[in-house]
Amino acid sequence: MSITANDQTKSFCILTDNTEYRMKADGNGILKHIWYGNRVETDMEYLLDFHDVGFSGNIYTSAHERHYSIDTMPLEYPASGCGDFRIPALTVVQSDGSSAADLRFVGYNIRKGKYSIPGLPAVYADENEAETLEIYLKDIASDLFVTLKYGVIARYDIITRSAVISNKGKTDMQLERALSMCLDFTYGEWDRIYFTGRHTMERIPERAPLMHGIQESSGMRGTSSHQHNPSVILCSRDCTETTGECFGAALMYSGSCKTQTEYGQLNETRLVMGINPDLFSWELKRGEDFYTPEAILTYSGSGFEQLSHNFHRVIRNNVCRGRYKKTERPVLINNWEATYFDFDEIKLAEIAQKAAELGVDMFVMDDGWFGKRDSDTSGLGDWVVNESKLKGGLKPLTDKIRKMGLKFGIWFEPEMVSEDSDLFRNHPEWAIRIPGRKPSLSRCQLVLDMTRADVREYLYNAISNVLNSADISYVKWDMNRSICDWYSSVLKREAMGEMPHRYVLGLYELLERLTSDFPDVLFEGCSGGGGRFDAGMLYYCPQIWCSDNTDAYDRTRIQYGTSFIYPISAVGSHVSAVPNHQTGRVTPIEARAVTAMAGSFGYELDLNTLSDEEKSAVKNQIIRFRRYNKLIHNGDYFRLSSPLTDKFAVWQFVAEDKSEALVHGMIYKTESNMLRYPIRLRGLKADTAYRLETDGAVYTGRALMNGGILLPRSMGDYSPIEMHFVEIK
Ligand code: DGJ
Repeated sequence: MSITANDQTKSFCILTDNTEYRMKADGNGILKHIWYGNRVETDMEYLLDFHDVGFSGNIYTSAHERHYSIDTMPLEYPASGCGDFRIPALTVVQSDGSSAADLRFVGYNIRKGKYSIPGLPAVYADENEAETLEIYLKDIASDLFVTLKYGVIARYDIITRSAVISNKGKTDMQLERALSMCLDFTYGEWDRIYFTGRHTMERIPERAPLMHGIQESSGMRGTSSHQHNPSVILCSRDCTETTGECFGAALMYSGSCKTQTEYGQLNETRLVMGINPDLFSWELKRGEDFYTPEAILTYSGSGFEQLSHNFHRVIRNNVCRGRYKKTERPVLINNWEATYFDFDEIKLAEIAQKAAELGVDMFVMDDGWFGKRDSDTSGLGDWVVNESKLKGGLKPLTDKIRKMGLKFGIWFEPEMVSEDSDLFRNHPEWAIRIPGRKPSLSRCQLVLDMTRADVREYLYNAISNVLNSADISYVKWDMNRSICDWYSSVLKREAMGEMPHRYVLGLYELLERLTSDFPDVLFEGCSGGGGRFDAGMLYYCPQIWCSDNTDAYDRTRIQYGTSFIYPISAVGSHVSAVPNHQTGRVTPIEARAVTAMAGSFGYELDLNTLSDEEKSAVKNQIIRFRRYNKLIHNGDYFRLSSPLTDKFAVWQFVAEDKSEALVHGMIYKTESNMLRYPIRLRGLKADTAYRLETDGAVYTGRALMNGGILLPRSMGDYSPIEMHFVEIK
C-alpha cells in the first residue's frame, strides 16, 4: 500500500519508492501539511513549531491558544477569508456576498487505481499501478465541500493533485479562485526555476532565489503560452543535476495558468498552482461540482536529473495515449519552410519523392492547402481543399505519395477563423469578439468560440470529412494566436468569467472525440511552435512541435529547458535549411541532425536543393535515427552540460537496461589550439565495459562516469558530437 491512514491521529502518509508525503487533520479539523521529501517513515510533525506571532490571529475556538494560527501553519488547501493571510488556493463568494471558507476535515477514502477528472486530462494508470486518496473537507459555516484528490504512482515517485469543489447547499456560490494544489514548506531556502520565453524562444529556464513576498509566473493568453510554461521547480540553493533537493510541479492544463510562490514572514514557503484566477470566475450553482485541472508533482533528493526522469516516465507512460505512445514515430518531411504558401501538387510531389528516396517515412502538407489560403490573411475555417493549388483534390495527391511508400499527414488550425473566409461570412457570431468593439487581430485571424457546441460540431465534421476523404496518418493541430476579447453570445453575463476555462474544456472535448474516432492518426500539437507545450495537450497529442525556431543552436537551448519536465518523445524537431529562416545562422547539417534527433525527428526543407554530399548525409542520418529511435524515445535522458552557460551543449541517452548510451551535442565555437573538453557520462553500469562505436575503443562505465571522455576535436562553429557506446557482453 502506498497510502496509509491512521484513524486515531487522522494522519495520512503517501509513500512512493523514494519519497514520502504526510499530512494530518488536527483536533480542530485543520488539515496540516507535514512533510514532502525523502522517505523517512517517521511522523515528521516534531519539526513543526508554533509560537504566538503578532497579527497572526487565532480561530475562534482556539482564541486563547495564541500560538495556534492558520496564518503560520503549513496547510494542504488554504482558503481565503478566515485568517490565513498568505496566497490562498480557494476563494469562494458565498451566497451572502462574503468571501470566506473555513475548511475542516470530515473524512477520507483510499482506493486502488487512479482517479480521473470529468472533461479534463489526467494521469491514468492500471488498477494495480496506482492508488487514490480522497480527503473530504467542509466549510464550517456553509455547505461548501472540497475533495482533495491525491493519485500515487509509487514507482515513478509521482503524486498528482486535484480538487473538487462542491456546492451542496441550497443557494448558489461563486468561485473566484480554485487552484489545483498548495504545497507549504516550513523550512528551507529555495530557488525557484520557471520556464519562460517568447515565440521562437520558449521554455528557457530562469533560476532565482525566493525573496520575501510573492513571485509568480502567470499566463493571460488563453493558452499555456510560450511565455509562462505551466511548470515550476523549487530547489535547494545547492541543487545541481545530481545533488540537492528539488520539487517539481506541472499542470495538466492548456489554458492560462498561475504559479505563485510566497516566501513568508517566518521564512516559510508556499507554492500554489492552477487555473489563472485573473481570467476566471465560476458560478457554482447549488448541487454542482467544479473540477480543477491536475497538477503532477515529484520530488528528488538527488538533483534535477532524477526529477526529470520521474516526469519523463510518467508523461511517456501515463499521460500520452494511443497507438503512438510506444510505437516508433515516423520520420517526417514537412513542406512549411520549403514552400510556405507557395505550392501546388507537383511541387509537393517533388519534395515527397526526394524524401522517399532518402528514407523518410511520411510527408506532411502544412498550411495553405485549403480555402482561399495563399497567405496568412485569409481562408482559416474553410477546411475544403483548394483545387486551384491541388488539382483534383486531396485523394490523387495522397495516393501518389502513398505509392512512393510514404504516409501522408496534414495541417489544420481548427480553433481559428479568418475574417476573409466563408466560415466567417456565414457565422460571424462564432468568432470571439465583444459586440460594439473591434476585436484584436493577431496574424490577421480571430479565434473561434470553442465554448459553443455548434462550433465544435462544425469542426468535428470538417476535420473528419477530410480525414475520411483520403489515406491520412497524421494531423498537425496548430493554434497561432493568444486569445482576448473574451465574450460569447451563448454565455449569460454572470457566466462570462467562465469563458476562458470553458474554451479549454471545449477544446479537450473536440480533441477527445477526434483522437478516439481516429485512433490510427498521429496527432501532433503545435501553437506557433511550442506555445501550448503542456501535459494537458500531451494527453491527446504524444508529440508537440517544440518551437517555430528551427535554428540548431537556439534549439539546443529551447530543448534543454523543455527537457526539465517533458520527455524527448514529446518534442517535435526537424532539420531545416541554412541560412536558418529565423536567425540567418549557418550550422552544419550534422549539428542540425543530432539536435533534431533529440525529438521526433524529421526534415523541413526541400531535399532536392541539397548537394549530393548533403543528400547522402540525410540518408545516413535517417538510418542512424532508426537505430537509435528506441534508445532516444524510451531511454533516460541526461543533461551533461548547460547550453545557457557552457561553451557546448551535450546530452546523453541511456537504455533502460544500461546496455547502450548515446552522447549527442554541439561545440559552439572552435578556437585555435583548443583543448578538448572532457565530459562525464552518467547512468551507466560502473563495472561494465562499453565500446565506443566510432573507433572501437573500450572504456568501463566507471571510467566514463568518473573521468569522462574527451569531446571530439571541433572544426568550425557548431561542431556536432555523436558518440555511441555499446555494452560488451
Ligand atoms: C506555425 C507553426 O508552428 C509552423 O510550423 C507552421 O505550421 C505555421 N504555423 C503555418 O502557418
